[in-house]
Amino acid sequence: MSKSNRFNSSRLPTAKGMDMATVYSPKECSRKAKHIVLSPANKTIIEEFQAILAMKEQFEEHDVPVPNKIMMFGPPGTGKTLTAFYLAERLGLPLVLARLDTLIHAHLGETGSNVRKIFEYAKAVPCVLFLDEFDALARTRDNNDEVKEMSRVVNTLLQCLDEFSGESIFMAATNLETELDHAIWRRFDTKMNYLPPDRSCREEYIRLVVDKFETEDVFESRAVDLLQGCSYADIEQIMLKAKRKAIITGQNLTAGLLQTSIGEYLPQRNERSLAEELE
Ligand SMILES: Nc1ncnc2c1ncn2[C@@H]1O[C@H](COP(=O)(O)OP(=O)(O)OP(=O)(O)O)[C@@H](O)[C@H]1O
Ligand SMILES: [Mg+2]
Repeated sequence: MSKSNRFNSSRLPTAKGMDMATVYSPKECSRKAKHIVLSPANKTIIEEFQAILAMKEQFEEHDVPVPNKIMMFGPPGTGKTLTAFYLAERLGLPLVLARLDTLIHAHLGETGSNVRKIFEYAKAVPCVLFLDEFDALARTRDNNDEVKEMSRVVNTLLQCLDEFSGESIFMAATNLETELDHAIWRRFDTKMNYLPPDRSCREEYIRLVVDKFETEDVFESRAVDLLQGCSYADIEQIMLKAKRKAIITGQNLTAGLLQTSIGEYLPQRNERSLAEELE
């Protein structure tokens, strides 16, 4: 084999003529994750993770393995993808965001080989390798139509996870955690559970989103109540709507504008509360 066409594991692998991942520099990651709010439990996990990586030698001395595989699970819009950017920035590593559409091939044998290539890349180049919507690859082996074929992809993943070593960190995210293969689940040394924001996280997030926008005095405390049950992603969109309304009508941000925005963004919620009132 000539030198030029030998597989080069330090070059981003391609499939279907496209790169299998998008790479973000730590600086780009920092911009994306500027407004992240983490639950106290997840904050601790990230801080500990970072502390451990900074003390690698001591861990080796004590023969305690350093964690390098994080599974994030929970409902949509709660910050899983955002956390991948955040951790990459904190560790000063590039984020390698795998592109599932490129990775997954009609021939599952090909999918397995793509998975292997992207893991080889992450072994050769220090990075945070992130596989979003991980369930698309790691569904339980006894719960799908193409059982035999799919189980080969899961087996490849298991091998890749077992052999994953070096400077890089592997992160995966899913909102279908109950459908993941148990053996895959067990391979992760760190698991982070994501939930819609509780009261104090809502307070923190609303403050960040309001930023320097002029508001009526009671706005933040009303918003914390009105946005109960919403995900961060919902809150972000609703607040944007409310800000737009404030700008076009030349007012401060008010609870009234927020209420109208909630009604427009979540019409189901209005119908539900109307139905409850009528009961
Ligand atoms: N914890 C959070 N802190 C701050 N902003 C958040 C948080 N979670 C979500 N957001 C906002 O919502 C958007 C979507 O978040 P993100 O993509 O991280 O959600 P996710 O949990 O990965 O959702 P999905 O399961 O749909 O992939 C983010 O770009 C951000 O603006
Ligand atoms: Mg996501």
